Amino acid sequence: MMNRTYNREASQVETWTEVILVYNSALKEVGTKLEILNDEFQHIHRYNPIEHIKSRIKTSESIVKKLKRYGYESTIENMVKYVNDIAGIRIICSFTSDIYRIAEMISHQDDIEILSIKDYIEHPKESGYKSYHMLINVPIFLSDRLVHAKVELQIRTVAMDFWASLEHKIRYKFEGKAPLHIKEELIRCAGMVSDLDARMMALNEEIHSLPVDKEY
Ligand code: GTP
Ligand code: MG
Repeated sequence: MMNRTYNREASQVETWTEVILVYNSALKEVGTKLEILNDEFQHIHRYNPIEHIKSRIKTSESIVKKLKRYGYESTIENMVKYVNDIAGIRIICSFTSDIYRIAEMISHQDDIEILSIKDYIEHPKESGYKSYHMLINVPIFLSDRLVHAKVELQIRTVAMDFWASLEHKIRYKFEGKAPLHIKEELIRCAGMVSDLDARMMALNEEIHSLPVDKEY
């Protein structure tokens, strides 16, 4: 009996390690795809749509916490099925137009399946949060079989990222119950972020439309 329990736990750990290995591979694969797109874009347009990329694997604690919040038992099956952001990649761009450009380039890749899209730029959250989210499914070729893993992409501008980091810190500190004036100020700041993004994009477009050799 003791032995059986031990074996079961040992195999759970093995499965866990294997699952995390698959998600890590998915992060690497998508990371490379993004680098290729950025390099090619630089080659053609002399311009990088991606400022930088951050990727992470969700900690086991956060996975368990999320499953609990959803009302599911902490099993590997449930985590793979219900936790969509075990593998997460954040893509930071200069301009809002870059976000849609990247999203389109990704959606054209045949081996990537788009599971869902949430456009919080077109439809910001009540908090003021803006970002473009894509949940994708990517194939991973293991030694003896093909598996798939979900990756959550969050695509946002530098300004949106700046806002989201501070809002996240505040949310965490007050455990979601921040004072009203702070929430209101965050919403006002979110408005300024949208305004800044729109003005910077317009400036960029104007610069590009002007000839280079003329004096102004
Ligand atoms: P979660 O259960 O929180 O993952 O939400 P969800 O499954 O409904 O997905 P959603 O697309 O709303 O959010 C996914 C992720 O986006 C979150 O884990 C955060 O990283 C980010 N996010 C969503 N809403 C907010 C927000 O109001 N503020 C900040 N800072 N980040 C947010
Ligand atoms: Mg999440």
